[in-house]
Amino acid sequence: MQKIDVYLTQSLINDDLFLKDKNVVVVDVLRATTTITVALSNGAREIIPAESVTIAARISKGLGKSLLCGERNGIIVEGFNLGNSPLEYSSEKIKDKSLIFSTTNGTLSITKSRLAKSCVLGSFVNLSKTVEHIKSLKEDVIMVCSGKLNTFCIEDAVCTGLIINSLLLYEEDKYELNDSAYACLRLGKLLATKIGKPSSEKILGMLKESEHGKYLTELGFGEDLKICSEIDSYPHLPVYCNGTIKLPEKIESETNQKSQLKKIKISK
Ligand code: MLT
Repeated sequence: MQKIDVYLTQSLINDDLFLKDKNVVVVDVLRATTTITVALSNGAREIIPAESVTIAARISKGLGKSLLCGERNGIIVEGFNLGNSPLEYSSEKIKDKSLIFSTTNGTLSITKSRLAKSCVLGSFVNLSKTVEHIKSLKEDVIMVCSGKLNTFCIEDAVCTGLIINSLLLYEEDKYELNDSAYACLRLGKLLATKIGKPSSEKILGMLKESEHGKYLTELGFGEDLKICSEIDSYPHLPVYCNGTIKLPEKIESETNQKSQLKKIKISK
């Protein structure tokens, strides 16, 4: 049996040791895990998550050429280059750049996974990739719904539930769920179709009704909800490893380059 334990808000994860050596999936549909997926898909070199604005600024000083990104209360942090709207992360602005990223809840869930065995970021835009990843792990998984200011968020729970629903679709007996995972599954099922994949339209409807969705709309970020609702529109899976978030393709090509360099050095 593969165990899937869900935590319904990141504040339930007390310290970094809790996720040590675990396989973790972090979900923050509105908007951190969506925006990070969009940014990496559009060519950002890497994303360095920071748990606070102060830490982000400190990393940026040490790193040199990079962009400071993120939000507090949904709005770009004063002095930062970009906020947390996926619409801001076009190739022209971010291609090949290192982004230091700090958001209210999402980057807290991510940095709490620094000692994890593996950590990936899930959302509606990369739902199938997240499902494939969990299947391929064949090991227990902890799914962290980032939530909002230490409380439950419907959009993270529904997304998590739809991921679990897809996993269980043809292999129900393979998985063991804790009660939070089961609650997410029941919620997700309300929006799932027979083949598991929900319609982006229904998801958008749910996002518009959600507390944070309404808040973002009031701030003028209504378009973001549409982007965050589009199932599998960015089929890439961000991986958090050694302090940075990258796409697996990028990690692989860098590893190949390094081993090529080693070979060159040795043959010299
Ligand atoms: C967060 O990390 O709390 C969010 O992504 C908030 C947002 O900008 O919508």
